[in-house]
Amino acid sequence: MRPLVVLIVTKISALQHELDAIRGQRPIGFVPTMGALHQGHLSLIRQSIDNECFTVCSIFVNPTQFNDKGDLDRYPRTPENDIALLESAGCELLFMPTAEEVYPQGQVITSFDLGYLETILEGAFRPGHFKGVSQVVNRLFEIVRPNKAFFGRKDYQQLLIVKELVKITHSSIEIIAGETLREVDGLAMSSRNQLLIPEHRLKVGIIYKTLVEAGKLAKEHSIESAVAFVSQRFQALDDFRLEYFEIRDPSTLLVPATVQSGHIALIALFVGRVRLIDNITID
Ligand code: PAJ
Repeated sequence: MRPLVVLIVTKISALQHELDAIRGQRPIGFVPTMGALHQGHLSLIRQSIDNECFTVCSIFVNPTQFNDKGDLDRYPRTPENDIALLESAGCELLFMPTAEEVYPQGQVITSFDLGYLETILEGAFRPGHFKGVSQVVNRLFEIVRPNKAFFGRKDYQQLLIVKELVKITHSSIEIIAGETLREVDGLAMSSRNQLLIPEHRLKVGIIYKTLVEAGKLAKEHSIESAVAFVSQRFQALDDFRLEYFEIRDPSTLLVPATVQSGHIALIALFVGRVRLIDNITID
């Protein structure tokens, strides 16, 4: 039976005490998040439960992955709502540590060599972002020691970074990917969506529509025509500022010679002050 309340712990010792009683009896499934939870996060929780895992969620707004202090300060925090959502989804344990608990030695980055994967696309526009992501994911993996961990395809490059991290640390954790959940207008669910002003929220459905149209163009014509289409579309819209639109190979994130089904179209842009990312698989 699903628990009606999620047990909340803030200390590593309390978390490990709970997990010690479970380890060996049930697989441990882990869903790391930064909170301000939405149905996209909950779909990962449900995936873990469907995998018959004892399900642990973490909420930690990791300072080391924010290259912009203002972005960190503005990041939405809705702990009460998060707890209610986790209970409704059937999550069993919630870890909400402080930065001191996660980084007792301070926030000095422990570096992993993730090669070109950390400097392209998101890494090019957010220098150091993936160093922070790999640092915190590695630290949380050390603390929770899950059997399986669930990550969304919404953050496609992050998913590949985590898979690479597991490889280079010789970890046995199985990384399971979840599909991107969207609002009715196609907007990919994101904690940052609640930062959009109402006028912008009404317009951002165009991001997904543009991705789908551009994916078709790229396959039927060329990558160049798709890139030109996307940049013209967003140039024509006030308050939209495109950072990149790219078509990449799904396993390497390198530029393909020709576009095929299965390739990924990725986009990042600012809408007002809010930075949004999305991607689709071209069919
Ligand atoms: P956060 O943005 O909170 O996302 C937590 C997880 O939810 C990630 O795996 C992300 O890909 C997934 N997710 C976000 N939006 C989604 C959507 N619309 N559909 C499906 N899944 C979605 O990603 C992070 O936090 C952090 O970088 C973290 C990995 C926790 C490290 O700090």
